Amino acid sequence: MKIISVAGARPNFMKIAPLMEAFTNEPAIEPILVHTGQHYDERMSDLFFRQLGIPQPDINLGVGGGSHAVQTAEIMKAFEPVVIEHKPDAVLVVGDVNSTIACGLVAVKLGIKLIHVEAGLRSGDRSMPEEINRVLTDSISDYLFCTEHSGVDNLTREGVPQERVFLVGNVMIDTLLKNRQKADTSGILDDLGLRQGEYAVLTLHRPSNVDDPAVFARLLNALEVVQNDMPVIFPIHPRTRNNLSTSSLGGRVKSMSNLRLIDPAGYLDFLKLTSNARLVLTDSGGIQEETTILKVPCITMRENTERPITVEVGSNYLVGTDPKNILKAYGEVMSSSCKVARIPPLWDGHAAERIAEILVKQFAE
Ligand code: UD1
Repeated sequence: MKIISVAGARPNFMKIAPLMEAFTNEPAIEPILVHTGQHYDERMSDLFFRQLGIPQPDINLGVGGGSHAVQTAEIMKAFEPVVIEHKPDAVLVVGDVNSTIACGLVAVKLGIKLIHVEAGLRSGDRSMPEEINRVLTDSISDYLFCTEHSGVDNLTREGVPQERVFLVGNVMIDTLLKNRQKADTSGILDDLGLRQGEYAVLTLHRPSNVDDPAVFARLLNALEVVQNDMPVIFPIHPRTRNNLSTSSLGGRVKSMSNLRLIDPAGYLDFLKLTSNARLVLTDSGGIQEETTILKVPCITMRENTERPITVEVGSNYLVGTDPKNILKAYGEVMSSSCKVARIPPLWDGHAAERIAEILVKQFAE
């Protein structure tokens, strides 16, 4: 059974790593890896391949940046001949980035079965590009693998036949559990002069937060207070860096001496940073899940989440972008009433193996 697996942007790489390993260990599967090139900087891409032991992509489409339409179209144009040449039994896509829907569409239009890993997540917010990618990818997928119960419920509500949907756990958590010890050896805390439990980690890259200077300025009002209490380490995404360099907010950020911008961190350094942080502030999707496993408090500066289990049983506080609400959650996190995280079902490091096993069975039928 030949499966083309697709990875394109940074959050895909930690999901594809355990799948490639499970597929390589499964004699019935012949895996082929395609990198779309949506993310291309060394620190956004190659570093993750090396650290996570992902095999070199068999094919790199080298697509790069662009508007959503341009990026999606370029990926489709470049991916179609690859599928035609290799004639896979299935194409596998992960997550919710533009590469996910672009390659998914190419596959189904060529009559190839589509597998979606991390299916069914819904923020309910159609202004998020990722939400459109999720809804569309799920609607054309043949095999839908979910990380949490809400995913199964959402797909059921949308009328996806039950026999296509599998609750298998979280491949991103497979990667985290596998690399936790290795990450412990990272020297990043020493390099930055940080002590365990005495600093915060911040990530911000969502267009709704960083493309609108008014929203970004509001977030900085809250972050100013946090950085008065402790160092805030801010590995900065290229989108966010570009926006700061072209607006007056760049100066404001520079004036906050304890808000420390660093280059995008590699996987192991970032895991070391988050594992040992007093708290994490973010607008990412995946980091809400990683902090849940790590039992580190996470303040999510978004109005909604597609990963409700991280709030229900995990360490996540979903607070929006109003500084008052961010600081209220911050107060709670720093107090004795901070909630204690539990681990969601099946987030046990074996999701990718389950997926490989199910696929082999399904395709044997
Ligand atoms: C994409 C995903 C988002 C994910 C995020 C993680 C979509 C719709 N969005 O958003 O879901 O959370 O990745 O990072 O797919 N850039 C570089 N170097 C790189 C990558 C990007 O300089 O290696 C620049 C691009 O040229 C562009 C900007 O960063 O100007 C944004 O990149 P893009 O891939 O369009 O979207 P992200 O914001 O990264």
